[in-house]
Amino acid sequence: MSYQYILVDQPAEGVGRVRLNRPKALNALSSPLMDEVNEAMLAFNSDPSIGAMILTGDDKAFAAGADIKEMDGMTAIDMLMTVSLIERFEMQRLSKPVIAAVSGYALGGGCEIAMACDMIVASETALFGQPEINLGIIPGAGGTQRLTRAVGKALAMEIMLTDRKLKAEEALHYGLVNRAAPLDEYMDVAISIAQKVARRSQVAIRLTKEAVNKAYEMTLEEGLAFERRNFLVAFGSEDKVEGMRAFIEKRRAEWTNR
Ligand code: CAA
Repeated sequence: MSYQYILVDQPAEGVGRVRLNRPKALNALSSPLMDEVNEAMLAFNSDPSIGAMILTGDDKAFAAGADIKEMDGMTAIDMLMTVSLIERFEMQRLSKPVIAAVSGYALGGGCEIAMACDMIVASETALFGQPEINLGIIPGAGGTQRLTRAVGKALAMEIMLTDRKLKAEEALHYGLVNRAAPLDEYMDVAISIAQKVARRSQVAIRLTKEAVNKAYEMTLEEGLAFERRNFLVAFGSEDKVEGMRAFIEKRRAEWTNR
């Protein structure tokens, strides 16, 4: 598959990587770019040899947001009627875990798409922000919800109302990202985490991701019931039999993802 705005590769066994590749526009998330991202991510999601994915940009920019030049010519009804720009950002809908490897700008939709991933690894140069307020709009791809849940109301308000940006160390401190690493190491860190995921049973990984995401949407009681269902599904898997046998026989488990 050849793409115009992204690069796709497999940097390690079981790991699929999508790199945004519009460097002149700081990887602004145009509709054609997002269509390619979704196509590539969905292809990895349905490839049985892939256990985890990485979404990244380049060292200067993860993504500087939705494409302002594209949005400039659009009305609200255009926005409503195009299979929404916004709906294209839902990495959370993928069943396999996605790690955002973020260096440089992660602004607006760039920050939102990173937060829609399951984990974030930041380089020391990463800068997270929701500067939509400067354009007379508000975040439209999850920023008001995911950022608030990640860093709390007071800081989220400041970021969105005053365009305060968070550096990598601050993002780590406030729990927005999993790791902050030097520029020449962040990608290796992301790949290493992705490999750890990819080496596990895809059945158990999928059921775990699904249950953790429900914690955002359900009461504790509902979430616990959901977790119990997923636990029982995992308990009925061939990988459960293999995992427990491998432990008892002191050997590495051979997952079949069944
Ligand atoms: N959309 C379209 N083009 C963008 C862009 C964006 N979001 N961000 C940067 N670019 C383009 C610039 O227009 C410029 O292109 P030209 O050379 O053709 O003029 C090129 O990328 C380089 O940008 P700058 O010259 O501005 O680079 P800089 O280093 O001086 O500044 C920056 C970097 C601070 C990130 C600045 O580019 C900037 O503020 N960008 C916009 C950030 C923003 O507002 N993002 C939110 C968008 S709205 C959104 O995302 C809505 C949503 O929730 C879905």
